[in-house]
Amino acid sequence: MLIDTHAHINFKDYKTDGDEVVKRALENGVWLINVGAEFETSKRAVEYSKNYPEGVFAAVGLHPIHLTQQKFKEKDLEFESKAEEFDEKIYRELASRPKVVAIGEIGMDYYRIKDDDLGIKEKQKEVFKKQIELAIELELPIIIHCRNAHADVLEILKSYILHLKSQPKGVIHSFSGNYKQAREYRKMGFKIAFNGIITFARDYDKVILDTPLKDILIETDCPYLTPVPYRGKRNEPLYVIEVAKKLAEIKGISLKEMADQTTKNAKEIFGIKIID
Ligand code: NI
Repeated sequence: MLIDTHAHINFKDYKTDGDEVVKRALENGVWLINVGAEFETSKRAVEYSKNYPEGVFAAVGLHPIHLTQQKFKEKDLEFESKAEEFDEKIYRELASRPKVVAIGEIGMDYYRIKDDDLGIKEKQKEVFKKQIELAIELELPIIIHCRNAHADVLEILKSYILHLKSQPKGVIHSFSGNYKQAREYRKMGFKIAFNGIITFARDYDKVILDTPLKDILIETDCPYLTPVPYRGKRNEPLYVIEVAKKLAEIKGISLKEMADQTTKNAKEIFGIKIID
């Protein structure tokens, strides 16, 4: 079996056939975590988890990109974000539901931000910290989204590790840093997650080779980042096997070993119990 640790069947891309996509994954031995990006998609992630007796979990959180209102188009992706204020009370309530296994996705994204736009950077930091604190309070791991902001994310995580007895733990989703940054995250107890990007770009081979098996997670980030050989199609949890295959190939181990170890890692970090 495999666990897709980062799916978005809760997004509108699956409005008409989300349940079919989930069933297709479950029937083929793929479990999944639907990850929220703002309140509505967090709520929908929780609803999905309630509708299935096993194999479907949820993460709830406010993504940095949803702190400002923006609309953009890039390649096959059209995206609209709202300017949501972080309301701790409603997220605490959602996060307390039975199958919520993490706070996420949360973090920092400087990709579309001008270097001198310090206001929005500060806002992202503030909301990221509030959600880290909520995760510590609820004893949940965090799913971190980071784009062009590793130095600041590392600094914030380090500040918690220095000043608190209870540390955040979790995963750096869709890892985009270098092997040295990956080492720093791992030193603090974070796992490194890879997705379809590694099937069509060679930028992360060095990080993959440098990261011990016990620290690797697999994900799709569907509907985005479809792996080879399905490029051009909408992504889905079932395709996470292509990520496992590529990782196994790079590491020079069997697919079975890669599947077993990444499933074990996901179970441990998210506290998922599997009876087999
Ligand atoms: Ni995502």
